[in-house]
Amino acid sequence: MVKKITVIGAGHVGEHVAQGLANLELAEEVVIVDVVEDLPQGKSLDMRQSMPVLGKDTKIIGTNGYEETKDSNIVIHTAGRPRKPGMSRDDLLEANVAIVRPCMEQIKKTSPNAIVIMVANPLDAMAFVALKATGFPRERVIGMAGILDTARYRAFIAMETGMSVRDIQAMVLGGHGDTMVPLPRFTTIGGLPLAHWMSQEKIDAIVKRTAGGGGEIVKLLKTGSAYYAPAAGAVEMAEAIVKNSGRLLPCACYLKGEYGHNDIYMGVPTVLGEEGLRKIVEYPFNDEEQAMFDHSVDAVKGLLADVGKFL
Ligand code: NAI
Ligand code: 2OP
Repeated sequence: MVKKITVIGAGHVGEHVAQGLANLELAEEVVIVDVVEDLPQGKSLDMRQSMPVLGKDTKIIGTNGYEETKDSNIVIHTAGRPRKPGMSRDDLLEANVAIVRPCMEQIKKTSPNAIVIMVANPLDAMAFVALKATGFPRERVIGMAGILDTARYRAFIAMETGMSVRDIQAMVLGGHGDTMVPLPRFTTIGGLPLAHWMSQEKIDAIVKRTAGGGGEIVKLLKTGSAYYAPAAGAVEMAEAIVKNSGRLLPCACYLKGEYGHNDIYMGVPTVLGEEGLRKIVEYPFNDEEQAMFDHSVDAVKGLLADVGKFL
């Protein structure tokens, strides 16, 4: 358990992140920050009142400022506009740079040693904005998206095969967008390659559904985007950091030469520990996989070129 975890944004993702952190007692205090008056106070009070039922001692506090967030060990940034039907994640760029940047400037002042987990979209660009705005080392600014994309992929495989999600090992890498890189060659169920379990046609259909997984939920919900699985992904990252577990998870990291790229956030297999990013693991890609990854890098580079206009 750490002393304090701050969740910025008390919306759909933020509230589920906060409750997830509290349920696991990952911190003595979970602080929720939002700009809407009374909203984080109301949600945190409600959550705090669930603690006696759940038998947990986490203190949950809601605030509209940064005083209470002081010296957070981890900051999970969920504040930002979500996608509406017909919008791409990239449409959110300008609005969310304007939210993420000032929040991260506050965190730099109040929690200079924190590890930041970025969730707001477009994810790879917002993680980049957080890195620049805080000036933290890359080990302490990591993005959550690959866990979500991989969870969707694993869920679809479980739905197709009837096998337990616990026995499905997979990594979806690359940027958090249509160019993400699911890797069937590195997907196994109980150690047996995916091709043992289903036809190539079925694999292709699952890969396609995974890449469009966020849009599928937006279309169904109509008023916003997914939040149960995204919140679970952010909590899983926090748990790996708090417990210094050395888990290998797909996270968005700032690349310094890994996979042949520099100065960009991409989803890569990441070992997480108490220091945040401990190590990026380089999978032995074949030419086709490397080309897909490179294509995804190009898409994120396009976004970053636009970020420059708003910084
Ligand atoms: P939401 O609209 O339910 O909540 C956003 C919250 O942020 C609102 O309560 C709003 O008042 C707050 N907010 C806005 N400006 C703020 C500021 N300056 N400081 C503090 N709080 C502020 O949206 P939801 O569904 O929670 O999504 C949040 C973000 O997470 C979106 O950008 C969404 O696209 C992204 N997302 C990313 C995922 C990923 O895989 N990386 C998955 C799901 C969502
Ligand atoms: C998702 O993939 C909105 O990025 C979010 O659901």
